[in-house]
Amino acid sequence: MDRVTLKEYSPFTPDRTVPPDMFVGRRMEIEEVRRYIGQAASGRFQNLFLSGDRGIGKSSLGAYLKGLAVSDKNLLGIHVYLGKATSLEEMVRLVFDGLLREARTQGWFDAVKDLFGKHITAIDIFNVSVTFRPPQEHLSQLVMAFPEALTNLISKLRETRNGLFIVLDNINGLADSIQFANWYKDLVDEIAKYDQFPVLMMVIGLPEQRALLAHNQQSLMRVFRIVEVGRLSNEEVTEFLKKAYTSAGVGVEEEVLQFMASFSSGLPALMQEIGDATFWVDSDGTIEEDDAVAGLQSAAEHVGRKYVQPIVYEKVRSAKYRSILRKLPQGLRQEFSKKDIESKLSASERKVLSNFLTTFKRLGIIESDRDKGRGEYRFVNAMFAAYFWLESLRLQEKP
Ligand SMILES: Nc1ncnc2c1ncn2[C@@H]1O[C@H](COP(=O)(O)OP(=O)(O)OP(=O)(O)O)[C@@H](O)[C@H]1O
Ligand SMILES: [Mg+2]
Repeated sequence: MDRVTLKEYSPFTPDRTVPPDMFVGRRMEIEEVRRYIGQAASGRFQNLFLSGDRGIGKSSLGAYLKGLAVSDKNLLGIHVYLGKATSLEEMVRLVFDGLLREARTQGWFDAVKDLFGKHITAIDIFNVSVTFRPPQEHLSQLVMAFPEALTNLISKLRETRNGLFIVLDNINGLADSIQFANWYKDLVDEIAKYDQFPVLMMVIGLPEQRALLAHNQQSLMRVFRIVEVGRLSNEEVTEFLKKAYTSAGVGVEEEVLQFMASFSSGLPALMQEIGDATFWVDSDGTIEEDDAVAGLQSAAEHVGRKYVQPIVYEKVRSAKYRSILRKLPQGLRQEFSKKDIESKLSASERKVLSNFLTTFKRLGIIESDRDKGRGEYRFVNAMFAAYFWLESLRLQEKP
C-alpha cells in the first residue's frame, strides 16, 4: 500500500499541549518541581509560578508535572484554564468544577458529591459530564473559605489520594486584578495556620502577568517559587523530531533534521509547526531536503495566520509598512538595530521608518531593546522574529 494513504494521524501537536509520551526536555525544571511535589505530598503547602513567553511550553510542562504528581506521589491533579475567568467567584467555581470532574472520572464521585450539595448539574445528553453551578452567594462563601473547602475534600479522599496538585493556567483575566492578588496572599497566610495542607498550587502566566501580580501585591512574590520556562536546546528539538517521526514510521535524514531544528530556534511551538508541516508535505515516508524546505514555508504560513496576522494585517494596510516588516529580521535573531534596517530600505520607506517603529511597538510586535540603548529594538518574542524571517525568505523566492 502507498505510504501516503497511511497518513491519517500526525504525531505532532501544534494546536495543543503535548502528550506525555512526546514531551521532551525540561529536565532541571522537572527535578526541581519534583521536590516541591514531595513536600506537598508530605503536607506542606507549595506555591509555584510557571513563567514564560507565549508558546514556550508552559501548559505542556504544567500538564506533564501534574502527571508526575499523580503517578509518583498519588496526588489528585487538575489543570484549570482560567482564560475567561475575571472574578474570584468564577475562578473558584472552575477549580471545584475541575475537582468534581476528576473525582467523577476516577470513581470517587460518591465520596465527595455531598460536599458539592445540590449544585451539581448533570449534562445528560450523551451522559458526558457534570458541572458545578452553585448560586453566586455560595460561590462568594467558597472564595472566603477556600482552604477549608479544600481540606474537607482532601479528608474525603484520604483513603485514595495524598493531596492535590492544582494548576491555574491562563490567568489573563485575573493577573491585573488586585482582588486576586490579595486573595492569594490571604490564602497563603490562612493556610500557614494549618498543620497539614497537602496541596501544590501552580499558577501559569506570562512574565508580564507575574510582574502585574507583584505590582498589585508585593508580598505575593515571596510566596511563589518561580520556575522559568525557556527555549529547548538544539539537541532536545532534534530528539523530539526524531521521536515523533519514528513513532509515525517516517524516516528523516540527519542533515535535514539539523536544518529543521535550527529553524525552530528552540521554540516548542515552532518545532511542532515545522514537524507537522513537513510530515504532511512528505509523500514517500522519508523527510528529504525538499520536504523540509516546503514544510518550512507551510509552517511559516501557519505561524503567521495564528500569531501575527490577527495583530498585523488587519490593522496595517500600508504597503510600505508591510515591505519594511519583511526587511526587519536578521536571520532568526530577535534583535535588530534601526541603523541596519535603514540601510536596506528605499528612500520613501526610510521616511516612514520612525512612524513604523512607533506603530509596531504599539501593536506589541516589537519593543525597544533597553539593555542595548537607543535605536536598538527586538521582536517581543522569538515566534514573531522567526515568522518574519521565514516570510522574507518565502517572498524572496517568489518571482
Ligand atoms: N516539552 C515539550 N515537548 C514537546 N512539545 C512541546 C513541549 N512543550 C511545548 N510543546 C508544544 O509547543 C506548543 C506550545 O506549548 P504550550 O501550549 O504548552 O505553550 P504555552 O507556553 O502554554 O503557550 P501559551 O502562552 O499560548 O499558553 C504546543 O504545540 C505543544 O504541543
Ligand atoms: Mg498555555
